[in-house]
Amino acid sequence: MRQPLPSWGSNPDAARAWHRPVLVREVVELLRPCLDGTIVDCTVGTGGHAEALLRASGHVRVIGIDWDEEALALARERLRPYGDRFVPVHDDFKHLAEILARQGLSTVEGILVDLGVSSLQLERAERGFSFQFEGPLDMRMDRRRTVTAADLVNTLSERDLADLIFRYGEEPAARRIARAIVRARAQRPIRTTMELAEIVVRAVGGRRTTRIHPATRTFQALRIAVNEELSGLEDFLDAAIERLAPGGRLVLISFHSLEDRVIKHRLRFHTGRCDCTRWTVRREAEPCPQCGAARRIVLLTRRAIRPSEAEVRENPRARSAKLRAGVRCPMSREVSEDQVLARAASP
Ligand SMILES: C[S@@+](CC[C@H](N)C(=O)[O-])C[C@H]1O[C@@H](n2cnc3c(N)ncnc32)[C@H](O)[C@@H]1O
Repeated sequence: MRQPLPSWGSNPDAARAWHRPVLVREVVELLRPCLDGTIVDCTVGTGGHAEALLRASGHVRVIGIDWDEEALALARERLRPYGDRFVPVHDDFKHLAEILARQGLSTVEGILVDLGVSSLQLERAERGFSFQFEGPLDMRMDRRRTVTAADLVNTLSERDLADLIFRYGEEPAARRIARAIVRARAQRPIRTTMELAEIVVRAVGGRRTTRIHPATRTFQALRIAVNEELSGLEDFLDAAIERLAPGGRLVLISFHSLEDRVIKHRLRFHTGRCDCTRWTVRREAEPCPQCGAARRIVLLTRRAIRPSEAEVRENPRARSAKLRAGVRCPMSREVSEDQVLARAASP
């Protein structure tokens, strides 16, 4: 069993050491044209990307949102030297419109979203995210939430558990795992990460065919369910695009295929490709009357950007990262789509 990290209070160097942001160079380059304005880092975590952006320009202002108070406290401490150019906000990024309204803003120049769990959360045994440390089966990123992973594991029906583990973990052995969980909890409630990991390992038996730990998918599924990570993601993407100033940029990093699928499809929808009228690219002023698709953005990444081998070697957590980005089209009909593409292509 790995030893959990010691508590680090609000030491900014600890934040730097324990969470390595992924694809930092790519994020800064994609957002470079926005560095004279305001960028919202919707998942500021311990502030790695935010610090890189603040360092890249003396003008940029970063609004850093996170619903994890512990992470935000570290980001606040780390980014104190940037004064009021960094604005920490403890909230769910799905409340973007209200958060901006509170700041007196209707649009911003850049939006960054780096989804998933941070090393801070994973490595803190007491947060209960990891099967590598003994801890309470919690997994709440926002501790104001009331439902923990233990609540789900101990109360859902066998069928609902199997569906959850299959849907959010894409776990082929979901049924077997759910059956084992229900059998184990009939003896006594499942309270800790290690208890659950052992149940999963026993249920999956010797069928470990990949390098990943047998409990990885089950833990991912529970984490997604506890934090309702996928629900509202589409609506959030719509709202984020609406809040971008013309020429503003949206950069999205995801870590599993479920998130990436939602992002890919929604971005495609906002490029104006609509399924009802078959691949028509529509102007924003004339959206599809059925589904509302219109060209609101131009993609800056035809395919997702992946971390280099060197980055993955240095930071294994980066291995499943996928980055997609787009630039907001001006609403004016005077500006042609070709002009938007040309502007987006220029550095
Ligand atoms: C991968 S980490 C981000 C790390 C950050 N980019 C850095 O450089 O330190 C993801 C963060 O997003 C936060 N998060 C996830 N979903 C959120 C949501 N809906 N609202 C606010 N924060 C969220 C998590 O609490 C976590 O701190």
